[in-house]
Amino acid sequence: MEDKIKLMLSNRAWAKEKLDVDSDYFTNLAKDQEPDYLWIGCSDSRVPANEIIGAQPGELFVHRNIANLVVHTDLNLLSVLEYAVTHLGVKHIIVCGHTGCGGVKASMTQTNFDLLNKWLRNLKDIYFHHRSEIDQIENEIDRVNKLVEINVIEQVNNLVKTSVVQKAWMHRQGPKIHGWVYDMQTGLLNSVIELNHESPIDETYRFDNL
Ligand code: CO
Repeated sequence: MEDKIKLMLSNRAWAKEKLDVDSDYFTNLAKDQEPDYLWIGCSDSRVPANEIIGAQPGELFVHRNIANLVVHTDLNLLSVLEYAVTHLGVKHIIVCGHTGCGGVKASMTQTNFDLLNKWLRNLKDIYFHHRSEIDQIENEIDRVNKLVEINVIEQVNNLVKTSVVQKAWMHRQGPKIHGWVYDMQTGLLNSVIELNHESPIDETYRFDNL
């Protein structure tokens, strides 16, 4: 069967399943969205955001890119962040990395990836700054997973450096920001950092006129 047709048939079956349980499922869902969570995850096909946390349609606002980066010049990410925090009023932001991340792995090599170099450069800079800590780990897989963990912490900190998050923290004492790593071997999530409106913001990055 053609791959495209397979996907369309799966969709028909999925929609029917939903309607069998609740005949108003889609008409109710179509009215509005009020998700409590913004998910910033990796594009990796093995880490499907909704599925690994059992979230239903309507529960999760999602942004995914290679290696779950929060880059302060990325208009796409910033637009998602602004909309989720300021307009949807999400209560939590989750930055989720995963073990064995291909983007993280690539950033630790000397291989040229042309256009991708520019994206991976964000990871290389983190690797550079933590190289002494990471390189003393003997096993290569553990070295990659250490950078995965450090990357998640860095991206959570990058969120805090935005005026969007600082403004929301000041005016509505939220959202909470969580850094998680998904373990591909076990299917389990592990928390590596959690920040909230009471967390200190370095004065270099703090805005006082929000
Ligand atoms: Co990845």
